[in-house]
Amino acid sequence: MTTDLTGTKALITGGARGLGLRTAQVLTDRGASVVIADIDEAAGSAAIAQLTEAGGTASFVHVDVTDDASWTQATTGALTSLGGLDAVVNNAGIEISDLFVDLDANDMRKILDVNVLGTALGIKHAFRAMRQDDGSGTGGVIVNIASVAATIAFPGIAAYSASKSAVERLTKVAAAESGRLGYGVRVNTVCPGLVPNAMGAQLAGDMERLGLFTTADEAVGAVVGLTPSGRLATEDDIANGIAFLVSSDAGFVNGATLSIDGAMGM
Ligand SMILES: NC(=O)c1ccc[n+]([C@@H]2O[C@H](COP(=O)([O-])OP(=O)(O)OC[C@H]3O[C@@H](n4cnc5c(N)ncnc54)[C@H](O)[C@@H]3O)[C@@H](O)[C@H]2O)c1
Repeated sequence: MTTDLTGTKALITGGARGLGLRTAQVLTDRGASVVIADIDEAAGSAAIAQLTEAGGTASFVHVDVTDDASWTQATTGALTSLGGLDAVVNNAGIEISDLFVDLDANDMRKILDVNVLGTALGIKHAFRAMRQDDGSGTGGVIVNIASVAATIAFPGIAAYSASKSAVERLTKVAAAESGRLGYGVRVNTVCPGLVPNAMGAQLAGDMERLGLFTTADEAVGAVVGLTPSGRLATEDDIANGIAFLVSSDAGFVNGATLSIDGAMGM
């Protein structure tokens, strides 16, 4: 049996494709209304067409998660089209692999900008929209998407791993602040294992490019070998975990990290 999310109003960043889109599909299948917030308007429109064709309630707002003013516009748009906000999933993220000896300062800044600042601004604007202490909202939930990379040491992904460790710590400070100030907003992290979608394939290809593995398939095999459950993650594995954290079944889950990685990151 799946959790009923009827009446839940959710904003998902990076929801135009990949894990974000699958999360939007799972939430709308369970009765939630969603706003997809993404920098890619063409993919966002296609995603909305797919969701509404399947009977879901979904709309798109443009956001660049690294830009404070863009967040203000996106949350204002989401509040107008949804008539309130109960959940924000900070899922937008990027990955650029490099060995330390070739570390590119601009690439690292880009990763930190999107993955760390983007998530921090997402928490800021989610709090402003949902906090119950000043009547702005009625409380809610934030789910921040980190990665198994926050909990392991895999070669070639230093900047990405650092950014995802930061996401986990942002989450815990946000949960503490929300509790202390009576916002009524739970804040949790999901750490997905490697998913064989576009980003997962890019990462595996990078391992070959950097000379860490002979082929991308060998890199994937190494990940599976390090995973006690013996397989890669699926988009459904991750989206179902996010749906649980959004739901009232997780009403006392706060400041937590939900690893959905087949125990790779123990
Ligand atoms: N795919 C995996 O194997 C994997 C594993 C662990 C964690 N993750 C994390 O899950 C999240 C989603 O990954 P995915 O596989 O769906 O990746 P993806 O590249 O398919 O999708 C990322 C989405 O984020 C959007 N985006 C990028 N920069 C943005 C910005 N500045 N503002 C707004 N939107 C922006 C993109 O347009 C895209 O729609 C990411 O945070 C990623 O780090 C992915």
